[in-house]
Amino acid sequence: MEFGDQRRKVVSAMLAGWLWLIPAASAGEAALKLSFGETVLSFPQAILGARPDAIDLTIEKDPAYQRPMTYRAVPLLAILGTAADAGVDTIEARATDGFVSQLPMSLLTSSRSGGAVPWIAIEDPKAPWPNLPGKSQSAGPFFLVWQNPHASNVGPEQWPYALVELTFVESPAHRWPQLAVTTSAGEIAPAQRGLPVFVKHCLACHKLDGAGEGTMGPDLSRPMSPTAYMTPDGLRKLIRDPKGVRTWPDQKMSGFNEKVLPASDLDDLVAYLTYMARPK
Ligand code: HEC
Repeated sequence: MEFGDQRRKVVSAMLAGWLWLIPAASAGEAALKLSFGETVLSFPQAILGARPDAIDLTIEKDPAYQRPMTYRAVPLLAILGTAADAGVDTIEARATDGFVSQLPMSLLTSSRSGGAVPWIAIEDPKAPWPNLPGKSQSAGPFFLVWQNPHASNVGPEQWPYALVELTFVESPAHRWPQLAVTTSAGEIAPAQRGLPVFVKHCLACHKLDGAGEGTMGPDLSRPMSPTAYMTPDGLRKLIRDPKGVRTWPDQKMSGFNEKVLPASDLDDLVAYLTYMARPK
C-alpha cells in the first residue's frame, strides 16, 4: 500500500472512531496524544479511564516498578481502532524524558494470534502512582504495559512509561536509510541481524548516525563510535552491566542480561555497531 493511501486510511479511521467531541483536559490533567502527520487527537486521563473497556489490570513483573502493580488500563488496539490495520508498520511511543520507542505494528497486533496484549495504563491525577525506584517521577501520566509479554518476546525497552504521545510512522529502516546494512564488504550477515536488535533495545535512547528520535543517551556513531574508543570486551561489558564499567549517581542506562539479550544477539549488535563505524 502506498504511504499516501495509508495516511488517508489512518486519518479517516481516527476521525470516524472519535468524531464526537473529546473534551479538553481539565486543569492538572494530562492527555495522551494520538497523531498521524498533522492530525492529532488528545485523550484526557479521565476520558480514557472512564471508557467501558477500562479494567483494573495487574502486572506481576512490572519492569518499571520492579514489583507487582495494578493499573486502570484500556486495550491499546481499541484506542487505535481500524487505523491499526491501515498498513502503517510502526507506532512511535514518546515519553516526557527523551525516550522514544519504535514499536512494530506486528508486535502490537500479535495478541490477535495468541501473542502479548498491549494496554495503556492511565494514572489518576487524584490518586497518583508512586515514584519509580530511585526517581522523582511516577510512570505516569500513561504507561504502555503488556499482558503475557513472553508470548511475543517483548523487551524491557518496549514498555514506555511517562508516555505522552503515540504516532503512526514508517519503520525505522525506511525513515532513516542510513541505518541499513548495504555494502557487501566482508561478512555482513551478523551486522544485518544486529539492526533489529539495535532498534528493539537501543534506539529509544540512542540515535545512530543521526537516525532516531531518542535523546536520553548519546548518538552511538557521531562524532565517534564506541567501537572506536572502547575495547570489544569493554563495550560488551558495558552493554551487559554499565555499572560494572563505571558508575556515578545520575547514571541512567540499565544493563541487558542474557535473558533479554542472548549472547548471539549481543554478537550481532556489536557487529552492527562496528559496521556503522566504517569510513563513509
Ligand atoms: C533507557 C535509555 C537507554 C537505553 C535503552 C540504552 N542506553 Fe546506552 N546509554 C544511555 C545513557 C543515558 C547513557 C549515558 C550514561 C548513563 O547515564 O548511563 C548511555 C551510555 C551508553 C554508552 C557509553 C557511551 C559513552 O561513551 O559514554 C554506550 C556504548 C551505550 N550506552 C550503548 C547502548 C547500547 C548498545 C544499547 C542497546 C543494547 C543501549 N545503550 C541502550 C541510555 C540508554
